[in-house]
Amino acid sequence: MKPIKHPLTLFLIGATGDLAKKKILKALYTLHQEGLLPEIFNLVGNSRKVMTHHEFEQFVYSVVQPKDESEWKKFAKSLYYLPGDVDHRQTFEQIRSLHESFATCGNHLWYVATLPSLYIQTVRHIQAARMGKAPCGWTKIMLEKPFGTDVASAHELDEALTSVFKEDQIFRIDHFLAKETVQNLLVFRFANGIFEHLWHRNFIDNIQVTASENLGIDGREIFYDQTGTIRDVIQNHVLQMLAVTLMDEPKSLQAQDVRQKRHEVLANLRPFELDQIDRDVKFGQYIAGKVNGNIVRGFLEENHIEPHSQTETAAALRCFVDSDRWRNVPIYIRAGKRLESTVTEISIQFKEPPNAMFSELDRVQRGNVLTLRIQPNEGVVVRLKVKKPGLHLQLNEVPMQFGYRNEFQMGLVEAYVKLIYDAVQGDPTLFPRSDGIESSWHFVQPLLDYKMRAKFRPEAYKAGSWGPSSFTQLIKQDKRQWIQPSVEM
Ligand SMILES: NC(=O)c1ccc[n+]([C@@H]2O[C@H](COP(=O)([O-])OP(=O)(O)OC[C@H]3O[C@@H](n4cnc5c(N)ncnc54)[C@H](OP(=O)(O)O)[C@@H]3O)[C@@H](O)[C@H]2O)c1
Repeated sequence: MKPIKHPLTLFLIGATGDLAKKKILKALYTLHQEGLLPEIFNLVGNSRKVMTHHEFEQFVYSVVQPKDESEWKKFAKSLYYLPGDVDHRQTFEQIRSLHESFATCGNHLWYVATLPSLYIQTVRHIQAARMGKAPCGWTKIMLEKPFGTDVASAHELDEALTSVFKEDQIFRIDHFLAKETVQNLLVFRFANGIFEHLWHRNFIDNIQVTASENLGIDGREIFYDQTGTIRDVIQNHVLQMLAVTLMDEPKSLQAQDVRQKRHEVLANLRPFELDQIDRDVKFGQYIAGKVNGNIVRGFLEENHIEPHSQTETAAALRCFVDSDRWRNVPIYIRAGKRLESTVTEISIQFKEPPNAMFSELDRVQRGNVLTLRIQPNEGVVVRLKVKKPGLHLQLNEVPMQFGYRNEFQMGLVEAYVKLIYDAVQGDPTLFPRSDGIESSWHFVQPLLDYKMRAKFRPEAYKAGSWGPSSFTQLIKQDKRQWIQPSVEM
């Protein structure tokens, strides 16, 4: 990573929010510590909370908890804060005046990390306050997912964005694409001939994605009740990871080639017919149960949740990608909250060998499985059949694994560090393209419509389990079973 050269002002909308605290401010401080921020750098924070510049500085200090005071002092000089509601144009006029008071001229990056319902208004006010163009440099905008809540609102947001910014100025974030393990997928697949040749319906029986959390919805109750699992993780993170897993080889590593191939997977997702949804999609909602040995309450007992809420806190589905490579290979997805463990992984289950020599001795009764562990314990596991030592011939399945942390004695680059750096440097490879996002919304829209039916009820599952029994049935009807998350690495 080369240092960013030109003067930069970053306008952070939502500077006091959960994401700013957990990720964005820390990522900016990491860029500073690594010497990657330009010599002239300003960060202008905004939210409605009233604070002075100095109070904002203290707030950022408490978030990043710097170890080296002299490094911190250099960073602290770049911090400014302007309170105001993004619903008011005046807020942006004030941001402009503040910026004009800096004796610097350079590039502008808007980082919109506020409530998604405020995005359109924010963009309109950036334009109205003549902040859509920097007088002596470029202007770009980064936005956090979700991009809309359905096909229509995603379209509306896109129209608002593209009426102010050109496509190459817009960086829509899905931070899963920047995770080391997801970036590794490209290398793993296309640099290793042993796998790439087999990455095809002729050799692969099915694909499974698990994106589960044992956490509940603490602090995000209202947001979650309006969102649910399909919108929260399946429409975005899960489908973007699938796109990288299933894409054809791009012509080059250039952003336009990689993004095009990812897009083709999303565009080829087989649409759900309404009358198939009962069979192919299952919705769950957690009731009280045990997580890590502690009793936890059910979704409907959580604070701020509507007493009759029909929001799904977990979902499982079977889908297909209608491309030459993947036609009729089932893809099983399960995701949600308060499931048994917190894990994100993609498993590729290969077909069994054509001979039946060992079938009676094989207790696992399935082909080899290659698991790409996205988080935690990032790495790769291949499950192989071997002879169990002993006088009799018996087969056992054993893991052969590679763990990032064991193999490379260095920390993984945090996704947000990479994303901010790439956006500034103008590299959109790891950002979803608008047409891919639109295809993902088209794919999930029938599920959102289905949830609106009067008879719709998610099925209850105990917190800390792998979802309702229908999740098991979904895959069992195809004579398959869920691959349990791989051993600790
Ligand atoms: N949190 C996560 O883990 C996470 C992960 C991925 C994506 N995201 C996305 O990131 C975005 C922010 O999420 P979050 O969890 O950080 O939300 P949050 O904790 O509710 O923070 C929202 C921020 O926006 C500010 N804000 C709210 N209304 C405002 C208004 N009218 N004018 C100006 N500022 C306003 C809030 O401060 P005031 O209330 O003081 O105004 C706060 O700084 C969302 O799009 C979310 O979907 C979040």
